[in-house]
Amino acid sequence: MPASAASPRVRRSAPTKDTAASASAEPAPVDGQRQFWLDAFRHVRAETERRAAFLSAEDQVIQSMPDASPTKWHRAHVTWFFEEFLLRKFVPGYKPFDERFGYLFNSYYVSAGPRHARPQRGVITRPGAAEVTAYRAHVDRAVAALIERASDLASLVPIIEIGLNHEQQHQELLLTDILHAFSLNATHPAYDPQWQWPEQADGGAVAGALISGIHRIGHDSGDFCFDNEKPAHQVLLQPVWLSPSLVTNGEWLEFMADGGYTTPTLWLSDGWNTVEAQGWKAPGYWQSIDGVWFVMTLGGLRPVGPSVPVCHVSYYEADAFARWAGKDLPTEAEWEVAARTSGALNDAFGVVWQWTRSAYSPYPGYRATEGALGEYNGKFMVNQMVLRGSSLATPAGHSRPTYRNFFYPSARWQFSGLRLAAYQH
Ligand SMILES: [Fe+2]
Repeated sequence: MPASAASPRVRRSAPTKDTAASASAEPAPVDGQRQFWLDAFRHVRAETERRAAFLSAEDQVIQSMPDASPTKWHRAHVTWFFEEFLLRKFVPGYKPFDERFGYLFNSYYVSAGPRHARPQRGVITRPGAAEVTAYRAHVDRAVAALIERASDLASLVPIIEIGLNHEQQHQELLLTDILHAFSLNATHPAYDPQWQWPEQADGGAVAGALISGIHRIGHDSGDFCFDNEKPAHQVLLQPVWLSPSLVTNGEWLEFMADGGYTTPTLWLSDGWNTVEAQGWKAPGYWQSIDGVWFVMTLGGLRPVGPSVPVCHVSYYEADAFARWAGKDLPTEAEWEVAARTSGALNDAFGVVWQWTRSAYSPYPGYRATEGALGEYNGKFMVNQMVLRGSSLATPAGHSRPTYRNFFYPSARWQFSGLRLAAYQH
């Protein structure tokens, strides 16, 4: 994330009554709670608009592939989320901005009613970007009024909180999706001409993590998490070493030069089929110009930097690279334990998501949240692979060691890379 696109830290958990009171001598504790959630709501909503402000109304309509959504749709969908799950249910007499928007901007919540086909989101030229701005303002006013006046704010906090975290997820998708669209434009538009790769500031770890034995993973504190991070549970790890560093473009160029994309024995069968079907010869967004590799970034087309972590690789590619290197990808449990080991990993967060070799499946004893919001995570727990960490596009305050991201193994339009592991025999 460029400095110009830095986002404010989102506070995900309300202060205790004590901390609320100590932050200001005057307000009663309940007022501190309301102010806290008003501030959190406004911060997150503003961050979405700040990211969208780099784009024109025309930019905001485009859907470049079925997996990617238009910026305008993201802005409206996260707004619908608050309208559907908060305002309609808890504000007596709430008047929706437009009754038809539920159909247009419901994503995959079958319980919430019929919806527009995902691959066709790019044909929604109406409402226009300005009308979506008005829709957002309408919902912003209603949510703020609810936070200020609700008789039982505490009962609404879980919905407000998941709504904010949901919107933060879409803030990342807003960037990954517009980058895909811009990658198809021969003029190589820059989302932000000032954009730079994030500083790899925490480069102090040199040994990596050597871990084994029984550990506890998953989320068990009182802070917010998605339901897929629970329940916390014990895992037994075989002795394994995790690299302190992310795999770099320079290392990836060695893989390519050594026939990485032309040697079928390095690949899973599904992966090799994808290489052939898609004609993959390099990571996503790479293109060779007069023998020099360039990559499409949020700052436009840039030379591939050898020391920069490789990005836009699929699980299939990460798996093939690990095999070529004589190593492995870590499991998600190994990654989480290593990430919690002080000083073991560089760039665990904030650069690229890291593929693990763990299939996205429920933790032992997992139960989805009740109601429509139970559709958020649980129904996707098949055929996808887990990524850990966070990326340069992840909003500040939206990362934690227990976070489970997940994508199909062929996906590479996210900011996805890898770090290697080696089992100790
Ligand atoms: Fe969503």
